[in-house]
Amino acid sequence: MLKLGVLVSGGGTNLQAILDAVDCGKITNVSVELVISNNQSAYALERAKQRGIEAVCISPKQFESREEFHKALLAKLLESGVELVVLAGFLVAIPDIMVEAYPNKIINIHPSLIPSFCGVGYYGLHVHEGVLNRGAKVTGATVHFVDNGTDTGPIILQKAVEVLEGDTPEILQRRVMEQAEWVILPRAINLIANGKVTVTDGKVSIKE
Ligand code: GAR
Repeated sequence: MLKLGVLVSGGGTNLQAILDAVDCGKITNVSVELVISNNQSAYALERAKQRGIEAVCISPKQFESREEFHKALLAKLLESGVELVVLAGFLVAIPDIMVEAYPNKIINIHPSLIPSFCGVGYYGLHVHEGVLNRGAKVTGATVHFVDNGTDTGPIILQKAVEVLEGDTPEILQRRVMEQAEWVILPRAINLIANGKVTVTDGKVSIKE
């Protein structure tokens, strides 16, 4: 069983998709050990508690420096025996000490087709605003490993989603979640947990 730690900042619909996929057997060989949020009022923490999963808030506000916050976050993951860290809408930059402790063992869901509409400043609704402002006709989502950059790590899975006439950022966000994020994040976790994913020279191969 691969021990998962899920990091969240908000509503937690991607966390819910993971939990549902575990329940219905779309994800196997995984146990969700722990959910951590940087935000005390994240509804994602409620979702975890309802399932009897340990749910904790570790916020930068509780610490004197950013460095201490980072150390506390990493210490909690290591102490809980977490083997794969899943960023499911975690809107905090991942520090180098975490990437070093978990090389190619941290994955992130990003709501666009990387390398478009990603990097510093592109998170949450801002991504979909960028897509609409540019007039792109296709967008989507990407699951990737986390390295020291922002949205620069090896790409595991991607799925395209159409942009439609009259879309608002909110409408597009919902379609990208439903058609792409909630599909490819559980799928990527299942592939990793079953030993199907390898990384060579910064590129991912998948044996289905
Ligand atoms: C999701 O759309 C996720 O892709 C995005 O935040 C949202 C969280 O929703 N993540 C990023 O923008 C990361 N750069 P959720 O809390 O309902 O899963």
